[in-house]
Amino acid sequence: MIEEKNILNYETVDLDEQEGALVILDQTKLPGEVKILRLKEQKDIWQAIYLLQVRGAPAIGVAAAFGLYLAAKDIRADTWEEFYPSLHKAKEYLNSSRPTAVNLSWALNRMEKVAEENKEKSIPEIKELLQKEALEIKAEDVWMCRKIGEYGLRLIKDGDGILTHCNAGQLATSKYGTALAPIHLGRERGMNFKVFCDETRPLLQGIRLSSFELMADGVDTTVICDNMASQVMRNGWVDAVFVGCDRVAANGDACNKIGTSGVAILAKYYGIPFYVLGPTSTIDMSIPRGEEIVIEQRLPEEVTEMWYQQRMAPQGVKVYNPAFDVTSHELISGIVTECGIARPPFRESLREVFRKSRNGGRDGVDG
Ligand code: MRU
Repeated sequence: MIEEKNILNYETVDLDEQEGALVILDQTKLPGEVKILRLKEQKDIWQAIYLLQVRGAPAIGVAAAFGLYLAAKDIRADTWEEFYPSLHKAKEYLNSSRPTAVNLSWALNRMEKVAEENKEKSIPEIKELLQKEALEIKAEDVWMCRKIGEYGLRLIKDGDGILTHCNAGQLATSKYGTALAPIHLGRERGMNFKVFCDETRPLLQGIRLSSFELMADGVDTTVICDNMASQVMRNGWVDAVFVGCDRVAANGDACNKIGTSGVAILAKYYGIPFYVLGPTSTIDMSIPRGEEIVIEQRLPEEVTEMWYQQRMAPQGVKVYNPAFDVTSHELISGIVTECGIARPPFRESLREVFRKSRNGGRDGVDG
């Protein structure tokens, strides 16, 4: 019997070395159409990140790493002095595509560092090292997400109800996802959960993407509008909230898709544990608290027109459209990373996470 290919069988982000292209699944078209984009030009890669054709903190980090490698490959230079300014310019350009998810600058800095540390080598050798680093960033993403899934699974039991916001699943990473990794891993082990996906206005990542990938994995999935979370919690259907993150500050304040902080406040009210799941590449220890995280503001049309058959807001009305919000560390029960689960107080436990991460991710923080 030929098994039908579902959305989980596609790579979210990939490199086509032969064609010199970044290959992505166009997430703006899902769930209606599965469209693969092969991007060769830097402006197209920049635009794909800005338009959320590739999205989710880890996935944009991987896409940017491949993008910078492709830019490097095209640089005509014989010496480091000729090569480096063009590489740096390409890095800054890709880095300007979105401001909030730290994985973007994390991946680009990592790529630039590899080049700098090998500047004595020939330009073809440096290009080869950049390719290797980008592929490694992707491979590590898969490993980290799987580990996050393992740790996350310890927090829930078969049959539990989980509420999630936005899409922090496989479509936002190279595989498994972060917030959805425990659910996918649980499926591999024959477990099932009842997952509630917040619609996630205005770009609908929850209803379009999370529910799509969870159903493809055979998960009992229910979509709700964002304003229904309280009622679902009140009904007693939610045992835990699992969300992803775009940048976590050193004190544990977690920036994620707009609407996340409201869910955390509700979870606190109803006594439901609220977990943030993300790799150490999303934790920014240089930022002491959430107030200092730059929040991306997006176009008003995403709120007033997008998805509607006709504009739904009066012409000229003011629109506030922040793409992310910050959940205070006081509302977070734990931050699940590939090196273990950090618990409050986060200043100490996140430092411990990084100590373990330097140790190759062994010996989880919390068991
Ligand atoms: O604007 P998006 O769709 O890129 O926002 C994505 C999120 O907020 C995710 O929750 C976050 O990046 C974590 S993805 C594993």
